[in-house]
Amino acid sequence: MEQELSLPQPQEVVAQELKQQKVYISKVKELLGQRYLRQPLAYVHTYGCQGNVADGEKLKGFLRDMGYGFASCKEEADLVLYNTCAVRENAEKKLFGKIGELKALKEQKPELLIVLCGCMMQEETVTEKIQKSYRQVDLILGTHVMHLFPQLLHQALCSKGLVVEAANRENVIAEGLPVQRESAFQASVQIMYGCNNFCSYCIVPYVRGREVSRQPQHILQEVTQLVQQGYKEILLLGQNVNSYGKGLEENITFAQLLRQIDAIPGDFWVRFMTSHPKDCTKELIDTIAQCPKVCRQVHLPVQSGNDRILKQMNRQYTRQQYLELIDYAKSTIPDVSFSSDIIVGFPGETYEEFLDTLSLVQQVGYQNLYTFIYSKRNGTKAAQMEDPVPEKEKARWVNQLIQAEYAVSDKLNLAYEGKTIRVLAENESSEQDGCLMGHNSQGVLVKFPAPKELLGQFVNITVTQGRRAVLYGEPAAPKTV
Ligand code: 5AD
Ligand code: SF4
Repeated sequence: MEQELSLPQPQEVVAQELKQQKVYISKVKELLGQRYLRQPLAYVHTYGCQGNVADGEKLKGFLRDMGYGFASCKEEADLVLYNTCAVRENAEKKLFGKIGELKALKEQKPELLIVLCGCMMQEETVTEKIQKSYRQVDLILGTHVMHLFPQLLHQALCSKGLVVEAANRENVIAEGLPVQRESAFQASVQIMYGCNNFCSYCIVPYVRGREVSRQPQHILQEVTQLVQQGYKEILLLGQNVNSYGKGLEENITFAQLLRQIDAIPGDFWVRFMTSHPKDCTKELIDTIAQCPKVCRQVHLPVQSGNDRILKQMNRQYTRQQYLELIDYAKSTIPDVSFSSDIIVGFPGETYEEFLDTLSLVQQVGYQNLYTFIYSKRNGTKAAQMEDPVPEKEKARWVNQLIQAEYAVSDKLNLAYEGKTIRVLAENESSEQDGCLMGHNSQGVLVKFPAPKELLGQFVNITVTQGRRAVLYGEPAAPKTV
């Protein structure tokens, strides 16, 4: 009789692999101890979005656990790791320049290990090019197998040739990876991975795979721990946080998750990104309004203000639907601020269509705008579209948009003068000694004189000057009863 084979579930495979990584962490540690008479140093550089930054912190966590310290420049390092971004062509070009630079360094220091990971490593054309022309690289680590870093680094340490592991593995989440956080009071927490939207210009769904949400109890546990450790700002991350919960056994929406996070005891702020307008519900806006720990800032990338272009982009909302959402948010959360991403010069976009984007920017009144000239990404739908407008012309449009946005945000910043706002003191100001800087709930940069001891604390600041992209202020006088 034939015996029925039950294959292990992907999640079980990952749990098993994670167990094995503990063994490899010890093995690498041992190898490094034999190879170096001092602590070896790693230089890690991350390109691109907040999601990549969060991955970079996990890779650094692994490196720390394997015995590495951290170098501030590649020249001092025994291992260089570039965590790459594939969203625009420019970033890719820059990376190849950077890998090129490492060739000379490796000639001086043959034992230098070069590791590449991140979104670019999920592109076959990229990994082929590296294998052919950039032989100084030791390890290519794809985004779906990041949790196998110790095992693959061990392999790279023991072999001479390039180790490549960039398979497409979907629908699995590796929980409990080590993490080396950059800040002691701001932390990002990934709530979901991947993207299902296939906006016609975007490479992310191809390199990051399909959407998959973390279990709510894992997220709540992580946030609770962070708050207990003294973290004051939690940034929830996902390509489209509004579709959080789809595919989970438990019936839960992003708004419901946000409410549960808001209910965690402690004095802290919660931000999140990114919200796709097509999935941004009134329920979510109401939730922001009702949850005091959730920042009054909504990043709602519109990409274009013209309906034909939005359709070509496969964004699945119209200008009017977007503006209705903005109006609802403005009326429900009176002190809300908006930010957005915009692509200028999408294939076939005319100047008149671009002007619709310009008028939308003025109508919404964004506090912050991230503007990009369209960049062709092979393999996407838009890459096959006619793109007749010269790059120089697109650059002129983008400048016009930036000027319009300056006028909008200058006005918003001026209106802050005289007001007292709550700010998280995040860093020392590079501009002036004795000054700190941070952001308010609306995400506006604020600089003010204060002692370093206040770093990581909420402070009340009275704004004295509302300038371009920054508010200057003084600590508010304590209230007397
Ligand atoms: N060209 C230009 N900008 C892009 N973005 C994504 N793909 C492209 C592209 N091919 C921008 C979008 C997105 C942001 C993260 O990057 O505006 O919201
Ligand atoms: Fe790219 Fe669109 Fe997904 Fe954002 S929502 S990652 S722009 S495909």
